Amino acid sequence: MKVLIAKNYEDMSGKASEHILNRIKAKPNIVLGLATGSTPTRLYQNLIKDHKENGTSYRQIITFNLDEYVGLSGDHPNSYRYFMDHELFNHIDIPKENTHIPNGLAENIEEECHKYEALIKKHGGIDVQILGIGQNGHIGFNEPGTPFSSRTHVIQLEESTRVANSRFFRSLSEVPTHAITMGIETILEAKEIILLASGKAKAEAMKRLFLEEPTEEFPASALKNHANVLVIVDEEALGDLDEKDLQKLNLI
Ligand code: PGA
Repeated sequence: MKVLIAKNYEDMSGKASEHILNRIKAKPNIVLGLATGSTPTRLYQNLIKDHKENGTSYRQIITFNLDEYVGLSGDHPNSYRYFMDHELFNHIDIPKENTHIPNGLAENIEEECHKYEALIKKHGGIDVQILGIGQNGHIGFNEPGTPFSSRTHVIQLEESTRVANSRFFRSLSEVPTHAITMGIETILEAKEIILLASGKAKAEAMKRLFLEEPTEEFPASALKNHANVLVIVDEEALGDLDEKDLQKLNLI
């Protein structure tokens, strides 16, 4: 795991988009793993701006999102399909059929999970996976206690996750109780992982990530078992740690 310190959200997003754009230039048919949430929003805006100004093309790119709420259709404003369409896909030249998000309305959810895994394999696996991190250390919707050996599956959301995400809904009761998420093993099969963290609400989680040994009680710690992880963290999310601490931990 290597860490890049950014000044603030803007700087974190700029560093992330620069990195992704370099990967796209090197491999125009790259398979990208994408995330939703507040964290990657500016990164997506940067990619859209670059597409409009510099013409970077996404025609050959394939995307797989980490997760989706169970019970919301793709045109529900709180679904992750809706988020991705509106925050990124509608503004670049990616064919919609190249963009994959688990179907939260699938009649047979188990089968949907297997199909998702098979589709990722069919495309040769994910080249670069973008991740956010939950305050409880979740990656995707893999909540604390999820086995590191998990594949795409249905998960019951923790109350703290539902409360955190209720800011996007009219009320807490509208936040779905379950989601489909890539499993931790699925995520770790990506060839490269970029974890983004911004703001002081993430400082506690980042401290645990940097200091603790891998444990299923803290899902993001599984990333320590991956050979190619870049963490881009801003100063607020670094909390009371600094560059020297990270150097001592051999993370810079
Ligand atoms: P956020 O969510 O980007 O909205 O903070 C991250 C997450 O819960 O994984």
